[in-house]
Amino acid sequence: MTAYESMKHQLRTDRRTWLVTGVAGFVGSNLLESLLKLDQRVIGLDNFSTGKQSNLDEVSSMVSEAQWANFAFIEGDIRDLATCQRVCTDVHHVLHQAALGSVPRSIENPIATSQNNIDGFLNMLVAARDAKVKRFVYAASSSTYGDHPDLPKVEDKIGQPLSPYAVTKLVNELYAKVFARTYGFKSIGLRYFNLFGRRQDPEGAYAAVIPKWIAAMIKDQPVCINGDGETSRDFCYVDNAVQANLLAATVESESATDQIYNVSVGDQTTLNELYEHLRANLSGRYPHLEKTRPSYREFRPGDVRHSMADIAKARERLGYAPVWRVQDGLREAIDWYAKALTA
Ligand SMILES: NC(=O)c1ccc[n+]([C@@H]2O[C@H](COP(=O)([O-])OP(=O)(O)OC[C@H]3O[C@@H](n4cnc5c(N)ncnc54)[C@H](O)[C@@H]3O)[C@@H](O)[C@H]2O)c1
Repeated sequence: MTAYESMKHQLRTDRRTWLVTGVAGFVGSNLLESLLKLDQRVIGLDNFSTGKQSNLDEVSSMVSEAQWANFAFIEGDIRDLATCQRVCTDVHHVLHQAALGSVPRSIENPIATSQNNIDGFLNMLVAARDAKVKRFVYAASSSTYGDHPDLPKVEDKIGQPLSPYAVTKLVNELYAKVFARTYGFKSIGLRYFNLFGRRQDPEGAYAAVIPKWIAAMIKDQPVCINGDGETSRDFCYVDNAVQANLLAATVESESATDQIYNVSVGDQTTLNELYEHLRANLSGRYPHLEKTRPSYREFRPGDVRHSMADIAKARERLGYAPVWRVQDGLREAIDWYAKALTA
């Protein structure tokens, strides 16, 4: 039995209370779905800035009535300390996801990104520390590697941040470390690489590449690649990130806490390869894609050229064993978007 399977087995007989911030978003709603399916109690916080009620509605349709009754939703903002204090009361585990994502958004509006991602994060740390939660796990980011040239990325070798967003995620890690040192409040940061999967928003100027391209291909709209298409990413299906969160929240070993972990698969895919995977997968259902080709435009400022994770640390200390390779995750995601966008 893997560490994840035995942890899930244990949780089924041991109901705990979890706080998921950003619960109406992509990652948050996937965490919610998994926790409710394990009969856990979940408090969810979101201000709907990028999250959607429809994500919560979809989760409610995927769990039993009794499991849904274990969920309490609070509409509120992590920039408000009193709200953070209220939601942390009597909670065992915090999975902190709420933030304003997107590098381009942060370049356009660094103040909003900082207020949500740094002030909000600090409020959550203070509230979780004071409420003496058993474990605080937070969404860090591979953007923290910045301009460091090494591949694969290893947790303790980071460069200079390339965007305001990357600064906020680095500051989160610094605060987390200082809270361990100063107050003895130990947390775990999960540096997600490019996540994808069901309920990731395909719309808007700040949509991530996979949902944006799938939606454009389905709707027969043009797909633009930033740069020459040889930019590469370690795309990671969301269920791998759910696994990492639940393992980090429940790991017993002291040496596993007050740490940062890469969360991905270790697969490197260029944008040109991604385009071809998606087109090939979708063209059976959408024949207009057989002859479609992408167009190319300027490189986007703030983007890292190559990114790929070394996941040895998470494997060794958390028992993390990602089961979803990119191609399998893409097939699942495509099925979901094909249904969601044509419903
Ligand atoms: N998706 C990725 O590839 C990726 C990669 C690295 C890091 N991350 C991090 O993972 C976390 C989740 O990202 P996501 O992709 O699910 O994004 P998302 O935008 O889908 O979800 C974020 C959620 O947080 C909520 N939120 C934002 N500001 C808030 C505030 N002030 N108070 C309360 N709620 C607030 C939003 O409404 C949304 O529901 C974020 O911290 C993000 O920075 C994501």
